[in-house]
Amino acid sequence: MPDYRTRSATVRDLPRISAIYSHAVEHSLATFDLEPPDLDYWQTRLDGQHPGDHLIVAVNDDDDAVGYAYSWSFRPRPAYDYTRETSIYLDGSVRGQGVGLMLYPALLQTMAVSGVHTAIAAVSLPNAASERLHVRCGFQKVGEFREVGNKFDQWIDMAFYQRMLVNMPTGEAVVG
Ligand SMILES: CC(C)(COP(=O)(O)OP(=O)(O)OC[C@H]1O[C@@H](n2cnc3c(N)ncnc32)[C@H](O)[C@@H]1OP(=O)(O)O)[C@@H](O)C(=O)NCCC(=O)NCCS
Repeated sequence: MPDYRTRSATVRDLPRISAIYSHAVEHSLATFDLEPPDLDYWQTRLDGQHPGDHLIVAVNDDDDAVGYAYSWSFRPRPAYDYTRETSIYLDGSVRGQGVGLMLYPALLQTMAVSGVHTAIAAVSLPNAASERLHVRCGFQKVGEFREVGNKFDQWIDMAFYQRMLVNMPTGEAVVG
């Protein structure tokens, strides 16, 4: 695998992050967004005010972001405070090379250290790579919704995945 590493995102990464997600919005069913969000959306995710909110990137040799993963609110009501929803997107040029298996565990570890109890991910179907990544990173599928999205004139199913983080020790190898 080429030399990639992970680090916390900075403001310099936001245009690359935005470009990666915008391409997915416009060309795939992986996200239910229909229009790409603006840079302020990504600035808000970078600034996350909750201790369990993180935005991290996988970078290449030139320190340019080739993918990102973040944690954010699952639902706004306060009893959900220790639960965060996760998301991961890679540039098309680096998919299928193990970058997801490096980046996602780094996010989960960071979330665990900051006190997040459980991570939840929503995966639109079909998405074999994402489903496999979640299973490899210790998530369990907890259910599927039928035809909850409509994009490009298609009905889209969605699966929820969950991983408990509460007892994840610092430095645990999440992948296994
Ligand atoms: C989903 C995504 C983050 C996975 O990251 P990745 O770097 O491509 O995946 P990896 O190379 O780390 O592989 C992770 C696992 O998925 C498997 N996998 C990867 N691509 C696959 C594919 N196209 N079909 C089936 N399995 C696949 C790998 O074999 C590996 O499983 P294994 O270790 O048991 O062999 C990435 O493909 C991506 O950004 N996709 C588009 C955006 C997206 O769908 N995001 C998720 C939204 S829920």
